[in-house]
Amino acid sequence: MIGHTRKKLFMDCKKRTLIKSLSWKIAGSLSLVLLTYLTTGSLKVAGIVAVLQFIITFFLYFVHERVWNYITWGKTTGLSIQLTGMSGSGKSTLSKIVSQSLRKKGYKVEIIDGDEYRENLCKDLGFSKEDRNTNIRRLSFVSKVLSRNNVISIIAAINPYEDIREENRKKDPNLKTVFIKCDLNTLIKRDVKGLYARAMLPDEDPEKIKNFTGISDPFEEPSRPDLIINTAEQSIDKSVKILEKFIIKSIS
Ligand code: ADX
Repeated sequence: MIGHTRKKLFMDCKKRTLIKSLSWKIAGSLSLVLLTYLTTGSLKVAGIVAVLQFIITFFLYFVHERVWNYITWGKTTGLSIQLTGMSGSGKSTLSKIVSQSLRKKGYKVEIIDGDEYRENLCKDLGFSKEDRNTNIRRLSFVSKVLSRNNVISIIAAINPYEDIREENRKKDPNLKTVFIKCDLNTLIKRDVKGLYARAMLPDEDPEKIKNFTGISDPFEEPSRPDLIINTAEQSIDKSVKILEKFIIKSIS
């Protein structure tokens, strides 16, 4: 139950606790003076009661605050989640809706989206196995930094290789793997970005996307995910609820 170093970062410093104790006590003493005066009619009695009560409860409050700072029960910590799933399976959609809902409940959430990071931090990378793994290494590094600062960090990238997912697990014990599952036929039917159609064009077509996950590049299903959400079989609403429940359970 005693907080470790990481949690100490988020505690009030002693000076702050002291000033808070003082301001709170002044408010309490003023109301006590008023009440005692109204009931006894004596300013002297009201003054003595207020001074004694001020001294006793000031120290009690300070000690109480410091003790609670060390009790980790009921406090939430950060968390890293590596989603894994093919393009169009719903990783970005689910993480967006879940993060909105969690933010409304007061949690700090960040989505590390593959598409977005490939436009900046990972702009130099393509879609070979080596580049994809470098991409995931960078995203999981960002995620780890965020989660150790009490942020719930969701990596929404295809993340198709088991070796790098396992590497992430070993590097960060605070990381969960969530498989956003969807069969290829459904993905081809959905084809929200029109990428599957382009990946299936004849080789000589200049519009063809090469090394496309699920079509001309592998997607290795995770062997031991912490959670599987099948978006072909479940509605978005249901999938969001499952993911949100899992996240809250993991940080509690
Ligand atoms: S990962 O494999 O390295 O994890 P990431 O999630 O960052 O991939 O990027 C995938 C996104 O890039 C897809 O959602 C899609 O929009 C786009 N993309 C472009 N080319 C490819 C490709 N060959 N394979 C998969 N996605 C591609």
